[in-house]
Amino acid sequence: MNFQIHLGDSLEILKTIPSNSVDSLVTDPPAGIGLMGLDWDKDKGGRRQWISWLTKIMIECHRVLKPGAHGFVWAIPRTSHWTGTAIEDAGFEVKDIVTHLFGSGFPKSVAIDKALERAKYTDTDLLFKVTNWIRARRDELGLTNKQLDEIAGVKAGACHWTASPPSGQPHIPTKERWEKLEKALAPIPEWLQELIKPAYSLGETWRQTNNESTKWQGWGTALKPASEHWILIQKPISEHNIAANIKKHNVGGINIDASRIPVKGTIPSTTNLNFKDAGFIWDGGKRCGNSIYTQHPLGRFPANLILTKSNRHDCPAQIVTEQSENEVSQYFKNFKPEVPFIYCKKPHKIERGENNIHPTVKPLRLMRYLCKMVTPPCGVVLDPFMGSGTTGVSALFEQFKFIGIEKNENYFAISEKRLKGVT
Ligand SMILES: C[S@@+](CC[C@H](N)C(=O)[O-])C[C@H]1O[C@@H](n2cnc3c(N)ncnc32)[C@H](O)[C@@H]1O
Repeated sequence: MNFQIHLGDSLEILKTIPSNSVDSLVTDPPAGIGLMGLDWDKDKGGRRQWISWLTKIMIECHRVLKPGAHGFVWAIPRTSHWTGTAIEDAGFEVKDIVTHLFGSGFPKSVAIDKALERAKYTDTDLLFKVTNWIRARRDELGLTNKQLDEIAGVKAGACHWTASPPSGQPHIPTKERWEKLEKALAPIPEWLQELIKPAYSLGETWRQTNNESTKWQGWGTALKPASEHWILIQKPISEHNIAANIKKHNVGGINIDASRIPVKGTIPSTTNLNFKDAGFIWDGGKRCGNSIYTQHPLGRFPANLILTKSNRHDCPAQIVTEQSENEVSQYFKNFKPEVPFIYCKKPHKIERGENNIHPTVKPLRLMRYLCKMVTPPCGVVLDPFMGSGTTGVSALFEQFKFIGIEKNENYFAISEKRLKGVT
């Protein structure tokens, strides 16, 4: 069998794997901030606790990897430094960060002007100040809540407009109701009118009169997420140099040629280019004779940038694509090569496999690319946060062996089915 999967906590299971036996680590751990709102994604009590939890698992990964072995560990920019800290504390070196750009994330930003409006309207002390006055005035006039309701033309509003602290449910009458009530409750003190006016809050009056919220119109609390990180890591070599390490352990490098990005078209030969600048595009090329370059037959040197292609003009990946194409045509007129970055689309239904309910399935193309870059031929890829098994399926497609660990029974079953499907 070319895969071995375990149901359980990776900290425990990893202890059963022999030291220095695994060739690469490609894994997608939880983000640590309750990003998905699921049990496995909990924040673990804060920064220190989360880093300590991941460090313990990474220490075991470090032990089972061969000296010089590489890995990719997923992170979101917001907690990428936590993941990086855990990785380094476990003894790995951080060698690079590959940024995956996409355009489909939704901003979880709070509109500050709206928050100010809501805060004013839901400030209970303020609400009770109003309802205390209405209740006292009602009693002074010998009215009942039923009569107040009749005056306002509603069935059960007065019990809220006259609510008493602490257990009452205070509400302020809407503009329409207040216009009827104020005649019956007159005279109304000025301070109350000032308080009630904002309570029209959900309507235009409030927005127009409240300077505090209009001042903050257009302000929010978060950016639109458009990138994720894959931290490239390495267990330090055990020998005096990389050649000796590779001879002993068969790991230590990254597979550049297997990860080159094929470039369509032919680069025109020319002698008049400023190759230093053009190097942005052709740094994987070969110098032929005097200042003439040809492209590398396997394509462009792999970069620390991955794009998700989208036809949306505001997609960051699309913008990079267009700028990059412009850059090329500056040097090579009438030449339209493919953009020199790998494109990875979101996984579609067929790719995820039947009934795959995992909420964070990664694209196969992306995972195949990452596995290929850090694993020697026929090597063993480890994923201690297997989820629905995408790393494993990718590893098998690339003719690697795979060890996966997942603690959730349902996800484990999905992985098993997907992996068996490959073999
Ligand atoms: C972000 S998901 C991985 C998704 C995966 N890349 C895929 O494409 O399906 C992380 C997974 O790690 C699992 N997990 C979290 N803590 C774990 C632990 N201590 N041991 C084993 N699995 C764990 C979760 O149940 C979750 O399925």
